Amino acid sequence: MTRLSALLILAASSLTAQEFTTLKGHGGPIMGVAVSPSGQVATASFDNSVGLWSGRDPRWLEGHAAAVTVVGFTTQGIPVSGGDDFAVRLWGDHPRELGRHKGKVTALAPSPDGAVLASGSWDGAIHLWPLADGSAASLASPGAGVNALAYDGAGRLFAGTSNGALLRYDSPASTPFPLVKHGFGVNTLALGDGWVAYGAVDGGTRVVDAETGAQIADFTLDRRPILAMAYDAETARLAVGDGQGFIMVIDTVTWSITHDFRAAREGPVWALAFSPDGETIYAGGLDDVAYAWPVALLDAFAPGIEGQRSFLRDAGTMPNGERQFMRKCSICHALDDGPSRKAGPNLHGLFGRRAGTVRGYGYSPILQGSDIIWDERSVDALFHVGPDNFIPGSKMPMQVISGAQDRADLIAFLKTATQQDTQEGE
Ligand code: HEC
Repeated sequence: MTRLSALLILAASSLTAQEFTTLKGHGGPIMGVAVSPSGQVATASFDNSVGLWSGRDPRWLEGHAAAVTVVGFTTQGIPVSGGDDFAVRLWGDHPRELGRHKGKVTALAPSPDGAVLASGSWDGAIHLWPLADGSAASLASPGAGVNALAYDGAGRLFAGTSNGALLRYDSPASTPFPLVKHGFGVNTLALGDGWVAYGAVDGGTRVVDAETGAQIADFTLDRRPILAMAYDAETARLAVGDGQGFIMVIDTVTWSITHDFRAAREGPVWALAFSPDGETIYAGGLDDVAYAWPVALLDAFAPGIEGQRSFLRDAGTMPNGERQFMRKCSICHALDDGPSRKAGPNLHGLFGRRAGTVRGYGYSPILQGSDIIWDERSVDALFHVGPDNFIPGSKMPMQVISGAQDRADLIAFLKTATQQDTQEGE
């Protein structure tokens, strides 16, 4: 299939993933997806089975007595799974049950040294199961149900809980260090170099320092809940899946949104995983199939697939100013006059306008009472120092555009694009 015909199919199917169905065969929704270091895909389904895929051909791993909720791979590439039957299972040549929780198993994380598999459950326990020799152990109580677990390279375990805490266990014997008290259940985690990204029930999508918990970036939109995250270190891509069926891709070098698209016709994105080269995103949800999204194909739409006028244009051929806008602003701001459902105020007629004055938009108090007038200089300053410094207290996300030329190009683009008269009928 050529890139163009793939694009046309995507466009014809109103940007849902139907045509990219690759992993077909499960008899129920898909709650978990994982990819082994060698690129093998595993899926966890309501149909009580784990699917282990060689290309598009499944092998079914049967053993759970209820829905399989989570799946993963050990560092040796052996599938592991947990389910609604409270069991944690190891597959491979000698399949066995590693042990049981007292509630639904929701999270699995293999330790980087390959010695143990950590499991978390709604029962509020985190257990460590030895993968070779040794006996099982339990961590100090996280104080609530566990929704997500991940190890960093140094063997520290991060946990997200149903009462909204992001915890860090520095060793199996330590009491957990509360990194973040988010307040709403933390559903999912992803770890990068010195940072932790988490997604929450209220739609909170944040990145914090792994040592201190200090906020690095905030990608919270008007979507909730956030259900799945995956990170690929090679391409520096962080994928975020939500309850409204969108997948957003974030560039973790610039902390900007590069892609955002509706991946499910209806229903949530429960599970995400990258292929080892970071070029394919696997996603699971209410459908009986797992989807494989080639990131290169999404580039043609990127970013701001939703309702953006030029979403079918290749980002590579856009003038720099427009590309800056599409990459960094379009996801939250409309340019055309008229109602907009985006998270930020409409930018139509921006230049010469007093800050905080789009009628019907719920600004934060600081912008509402502001005497800033938006012009070339103030918009430049906003992204030179970042909204968090320029208007402290604004709910606009932290974001800096460090290149002076990029800011100038963006402003030149905005000056025309925010003035276009949409009434013109010629
Ligand atoms: C993740 C969402 C998001 C992104 C991305 C984003 N903004 Fe915003 N923006 C907001 C929100 C929310 C507000 C309202 C802030 C408030 O009320 O405190 C806002 C406010 C503004 C304002 C003030 C508007 C007014 O009416 O006073 C300007 C100007 C602006 N953004 C420009 C931009 C530009 C240019 C970009 C890209 C470089 C951008 N924003 C990226 C969410 C975003």
